[in-house]
Amino acid sequence: MAHFDNNNRESWASRTGFILAAAGSAIGLGNIWRFPYMTGEHGGAAFLIIYLIAIVLIGYPVMVNEIIIGRKTNRNPVGAFKALAPQTPWYIVGGLGVFTGFVILSYYAVVAGWSLAYIFKVIASTTTPGINHADVFVGHITSVWEPIFWQALFMVLTAGVIAAGVVKGIQRCVTVLMPVLLVILVILILRAITLPGAGEGLAYYLRPDFSEVTGRTLLGAISQAFFTLSLGMGVLITYGSYLTAKDEVPGNAVSIVGLDTGIALMAGFAIFPAVFALGFEPGAGPGLVFITLPAVFAEMPLGVFFGILFFLLLSIAALTSAISLLEVVAAWLIDEKGWARGKAAAMMGIIIFIVGLPATLGYSVLSGVTTPILDMDLLDTYDWFANSIFLPLGGLLAAIFTGYIWGARNAIDEANKGAVGFRIGAWWGFLIRYVVPVLIIVIMAVGLYDLF
Ligand code: PFF
Repeated sequence: MAHFDNNNRESWASRTGFILAAAGSAIGLGNIWRFPYMTGEHGGAAFLIIYLIAIVLIGYPVMVNEIIIGRKTNRNPVGAFKALAPQTPWYIVGGLGVFTGFVILSYYAVVAGWSLAYIFKVIASTTTPGINHADVFVGHITSVWEPIFWQALFMVLTAGVIAAGVVKGIQRCVTVLMPVLLVILVILILRAITLPGAGEGLAYYLRPDFSEVTGRTLLGAISQAFFTLSLGMGVLITYGSYLTAKDEVPGNAVSIVGLDTGIALMAGFAIFPAVFALGFEPGAGPGLVFITLPAVFAEMPLGVFFGILFFLLLSIAALTSAISLLEVVAAWLIDEKGWARGKAAAMMGIIIFIVGLPATLGYSVLSGVTTPILDMDLLDTYDWFANSIFLPLGGLLAAIFTGYIWGARNAIDEANKGAVGFRIGAWWGFLIRYVVPVLIIVIMAVGLYDLF
């Protein structure tokens, strides 16, 4: 096998640097907002069991696959496929990843901007008696300039971290923020489960109700697995490219999956007991976080304090995910186009911000604009294309590439280099060649069939 020159590329400064960065990417809006709500909607613990199966059968094998493609080649997603399969069109799979990162970040920054704004807005909402929390949220997203300001601020923060580099930017940022995130979450859980009446929320969250399980539950579990683990778009190829052959992969991937799943479960423990204890319904979508929770905090002793902490938590989680998305795009420009890191971060930060503007304005000047067939607002349309099409497609093509072009045997040998305890074996090859492609194809087919 060819040896790929690692020229002047940066590497993570420690083992935890990689784990924290990858976990920081995985842990985001998907865990703190989407996971608890999906679990509650789809039969509580029944959904959890299916989701855990999806993580084992698809999430883990795809994660290892992406990390080793990156580590083997020390390249961005486009360069990685070029290095492993020269003179073939497989690099397009990497290009699809870069494009997907671009699209996801453009609307992710909009929701992250709402979260930043709420660190401050929640003060007024929790201290003004009789305030209508739905009006506050709708008022915010329908005003033209306010959400644009917070979206721009979030992009500046994200681009600032990327401009500072892999170790001085990304690693330093996650090393400080991930422990903060964990501490905040633990404080919120302790507050929630000690409220009188919290038990009802715990029951709602944990009671396995298989009668609620349908085909859509399976779809939901699998798309959640892709989104929450940051799979299918080259984040882990890029982060893996800053590893060396001495670094371990199979066990680190277990840690990353474990951290992501653990934080998602914990978010449910922070949210449901509080929502039920204070007599609210677990609403769907953005409402749960931006409307119901401020109402819950308003009723709670010291609610202002816990409200600020919650939106700080959500913003931190969003930032450490957003930097991974921008890093994919930046790494491509740096490696393939010879751009300086600072220029790549700044230029792409600005362009991605502009591309996201229609999603922001979809609630104000462009309100009422919906997409044909999908019949969704603009932000949901960005989200649908990214999550229902591009992520599963990216994961599928990368699995086919490894299973049939690079070769599962080569990949297994690569993955076990540097492994200290746990190693992968032929079972991984079976998953990547058959189980992953078949499940993704069936799920995408069912999803698209539903639509037309
Ligand atoms: N994993 C992130 C979350 O759960 O919010 C979102 C995400 C980040 C998806 C990076 C995809 C990605 F490449």
